[in-house]
Parts: sequence; structure tokens; C-alpha cells
Amino acid sequence: MKRAIIVLCSLIVIFIAILTFQFVNFGKDTNGDTLDNEGEYYNIEDSVKIGDSLYNKELIKVDTNPDSYTMIVNRDYPMPKEYVPSDLVVPEVKFSFYGTYEKSYMRKTAADAIKKLFDGAKSEGYELKVVSAYRSYERQEAIYNNNIRKKGKENTDAVSATPGCSEHQTGLCADVSSDSVGCTIEQNFGDSPEGKWLAKNSYKYGFIIRYPKGKSDITGYSYEPWHIRFVGNNLAKYLYDKKITLEEYYKTTTVDNKVPEDEQISDTDTGADLPDEPQMTTAPTPKSTDYVNDYVDSDSKVTDKPTDEPKKSPKPSKDKKPKPTKKPKVTKKPAKTNEPVITEKPVKTKEPAETARPEKTPEPATTEESVKDPGSEESQ
Ligand code: DAL
Ligand code: ZN
Repeated sequence: MKRAIIVLCSLIVIFIAILTFQFVNFGKDTNGDTLDNEGEYYNIEDSVKIGDSLYNKELIKVDTNPDSYTMIVNRDYPMPKEYVPSDLVVPEVKFSFYGTYEKSYMRKTAADAIKKLFDGAKSEGYELKVVSAYRSYERQEAIYNNNIRKKGKENTDAVSATPGCSEHQTGLCADVSSDSVGCTIEQNFGDSPEGKWLAKNSYKYGFIIRYPKGKSDITGYSYEPWHIRFVGNNLAKYLYDKKITLEEYYKTTTVDNKVPEDEQISDTDTGADLPDEPQMTTAPTPKSTDYVNDYVDSDSKVTDKPTDEPKKSPKPSKDKKPKPTKKPKVTKKPAKTNEPVITEKPVKTKEPAETARPEKTPEPATTEESVKDPGSEESQ
């Protein structure tokens, strides 16, 4: 009888142990991370190690708001197909080509920042040129498909994003090169004086080298010393200091450790066989969507996304004072969202006069430079 009681008790203990194990592991993936329905990462360990420090907090929500400077886009986090930034302008910098094309544009804040970056380089004796900046979903699709035809899927996927997964659609990045490597976007740009300067200094202007050497297994792309991405000064410095990529940041950073957006922010083969480089005298028009409001800070005011480019205010004549331009209409406060951890600031809206594109297209590259096919060097 005594033995039977001992056996029964043992069975009960084993049963409870099995139940407890199943309960604790419910919902975990094979790495022990817990994934919620949207694939966001949060910590289920007692603590998470970042650098030399141990944190005991939830990881931050991955920023996928396409209007946010700190957003991530990659194969795991594609952008909406229809997303077109509402504030595209042509940066006042040198380009590797003549004329104004879709690829000439960047979002206003990134355009201002890249001008400062190029001016900073110039003041130290380095001349940089933009080879390719904004690309629409359709343009990325054409480039990607062209690469597939030319070099097959595996080689293409190492260097070229599928449409919807390219940072070029954000208007926050640019492929940059220099005359010293013939303005090509090849890895030897990283060994050029200009490429070295860029790698060392771009963070000071809010940019990161998005696909650094030795991180291909994390970013999913081979080393691209030419591809810089604007993320704001704070995050750029953080990533530079920690030597980490955006992917690593979003998988290891806690709520408390989240880097706020900066207060101040108020490819080797050619694609030349793509004949239809869109020449543009006006910025691509944002498409009418309502997803923007899903992402704004619940306490912030938002303005209507303009459907047309703001009209340029007339040039002031000598005897007349210029008429003040109208401020954009302010819409109702967006509905409160349930997400408690979004701390990013909304993109600041600007008065139309300030957001108007420069009337002149940027100065073409130096006169001695040969004119290149506008589609060339843009396959990555
Ligand atoms: N070359 C980068 C990965 C792009 O295609 O966006
Ligand atoms: Zn690029």
C-alpha cells in the first residue's frame, strides 16, 4: 500500500512537471524568442545583454512606419507598394549624371542632410556624387527584374532588393560614389579616399552605411559601401558607436534604450539596358492612402497628406511685399492607437513655401565629366 502511494505521488509530480514545461514554452520559436502575431520581437528572458549592460525590459517595437526616419525596410519588413514620400525634393548636391530623374529625389530632411554631408566632405577635400536616390516601387521592380534576367535570381538577391523591400523607396537613402572610381557603385569605392571618409563621417550627418562589410548574414545583402541611409543624428551615432545594423538594433534594443529621432530634424552592373529612365521636372506625386494615420503618435497633430505638390509662392517683386502662403490645413487628431511604445516624433510639416523644390535642378557634374547614360550604375 505504502509503495502504491509513493508510485502514485511520483506519477502526479511527473504529470505536473510536463504540464508546467508545456505552458512555459507555449508560443516560443526555436530560438526561445516569443513572436507575436505581427512578428515583432520582445524579450522573454529575465534580461537581455546589450554591449556590456544587462537590461531587464521588453524590446522595442520594430518601426515600420514608412514616414519615420528610423523605420526599417528589408525582406522581413516590406513597405506598402503604393507608398510615395510626400516631401521629395532634389538635393542641392552634385550628381553623377546630367538632368533630373526620379532617382534625383530624396525626402526633404534627408536632402538637407546629404547637402551638409557633401559640404563637409568637400571642406576636407573629398568630392562625393549621388548616383541614385529615390526609386518608386515600379522602378525597383524594373531594376530587379532586369538583374534577374541578366544574372539569375541568386546573384540578384545578394545585391538587389525585391520591389517593396528597397530602402530606395523610402526617399531616405542614396547610392554615393566619386570620380576617383569613375562614379561606379562597386565595392572598391569603400577603399577610395572618398569611400573611407564616408564610412567614418556619415553618422555625423545622420546617415549610416546600411550594408556594412561582414554583416551580410544579418542584412541579407553584400557589402555596399556606397549605400547610405538617413536615420537621424541620434540613431546614426548610436549604430556607428555600437557597430550594429538596423536589424541588430531592432532585435536587441529595449524600450528604455530606444534612440529617439533627432530633435533637430524639425550598384556594379549597369541597368543601362533599361531605356525608360523617368525624366522628371516635378517630384513623384504621393498616392492617396490612409495608412499614414495608422502610424502617427497618438498625441500628435497631423496634417493632410498633400495630393499635389505645394504651389510655389510667387517671387517677391521689388515694390510688392510677397503674399504670405497659406498654411496646410490641420486635420482632426487621429484616433488613439493602442500601441503604448511608439515614441517617435511625427515628421514635421512645413509651410508650402519651405517645402517647394528648388526651382533649379542641381548643378550637373563638372563639365569635364563625360555624360553618362542616366540609367547606368543603378542596378543595386
Ligand atoms: N541594393 C539595395 C539592397 C537595394 O536594392 O535596395
Ligand atoms: Zn542603394
